[in-house]
Amino acid sequence: MSTLVLGSSGLVGRELITKLAGAGHQVVACDVAKPVGSPSPEGITYVSADMSRLDQMVALLHEHEVSRIACFSYVMGPLMSPGFADFLGAQQVNIMGVTNVLEAARLTGVRRVLLASTVGTYGDQSLYGDREVNEDDVLAPRSMYGRMKALNEAVADRYRQVHGLDVVKVRPSSILGSGSTIWPSRLIERLAVGETGYAPYGPQARDNIVAVDDLTTLLSGLLNKTDLGHDTYLACGHNVSMAELVTLLGELLPESTIEYPADRNRAPTYAQVFDNSRAVKEIGWELKSVRESVCLHINGVRRDAGLAPLTW
Ligand SMILES: NC(=O)c1ccc[n+]([C@@H]2O[C@H](COP(=O)([O-])OP(=O)(O)OC[C@H]3O[C@@H](n4cnc5c(N)ncnc54)[C@H](O)[C@@H]3O)[C@@H](O)[C@H]2O)c1
Repeated sequence: MSTLVLGSSGLVGRELITKLAGAGHQVVACDVAKPVGSPSPEGITYVSADMSRLDQMVALLHEHEVSRIACFSYVMGPLMSPGFADFLGAQQVNIMGVTNVLEAARLTGVRRVLLASTVGTYGDQSLYGDREVNEDDVLAPRSMYGRMKALNEAVADRYRQVHGLDVVKVRPSSILGSGSTIWPSRLIERLAVGETGYAPYGPQARDNIVAVDDLTTLLSGLLNKTDLGHDTYLACGHNVSMAELVTLLGELLPESTIEYPADRNRAPTYAQVFDNSRAVKEIGWELKSVRESVCLHINGVRRDAGLAPLTW
């Protein structure tokens, strides 16, 4: 029996395979991109397969006797870029690919599928009022990315209802860790190597951040806990304003230059504050502080760039 991690060359996948293998699981690491990082740790088998091909997914699950799947493959960063135009390619992975994984899991009797969703499936904060948003709140995505994820969730719900497939939807917030393809890369990753950092939103805007190490600890718990109380979990860490984050980065990296967007009112297209108590209570999830999460991200980037770590 093995655990399949799809998207194993991505930010989340590469951390998750190491964590699962370290805990003694047989891990099949799958991506269309080459493996990232040091030589294969024990317990990890690397394979190349394309999620948009149902035949390849079914063959993979059979061949490796997969009992659990973490589905983290996606076209995300590029899709968020205003100039992105490969709508067909994105849908083949994000819509057909995710459905292929659910179908292959059903056909081969997989025990549990962990499906990566996002807080981008929620609507603007004003829809919920001045309070933290939780798993029971209505979804109202405004971005194409968020809408694709909401469709993935709806399909997953039907697989659960119609076929009894144990699909668990996980909605992470903005993940901090070396290899991010969204806004932390343009802020923290640039600062970590001495370049100007760009804050994604204006100073008063809030977003939620979670360290990739904390996120993968939660994912590991959700994959392996026998009886889960729910089928949806917010995988969120700390609610922070951009001003708080910029101030912290200025303290950690005093020589740095950070620019806000020209539109100082720019804010996420989704809600800005989230309640993670379901995951905290049910899985016993413990989180690093904001400061520790940011320091880890900075030094992870420096390690990958061959630079010495900083000390504080
Ligand atoms: N990074 C974040 O801040 C964040 C926040 C919320 C949700 N998420 C979600 O978490 C998941 C993982 O995020 P990430 O940051 O690790 O993404 P990532 O872009 O770093 O990794 C995605 C991986 O999917 C692979 N992939 C693409 N097409 C594929 C295909 N056809 N078959 C197999 N693999 C394919 C890519 O090669 C890549 O390695 C995604 O579903 C993402 O939408 C991420």
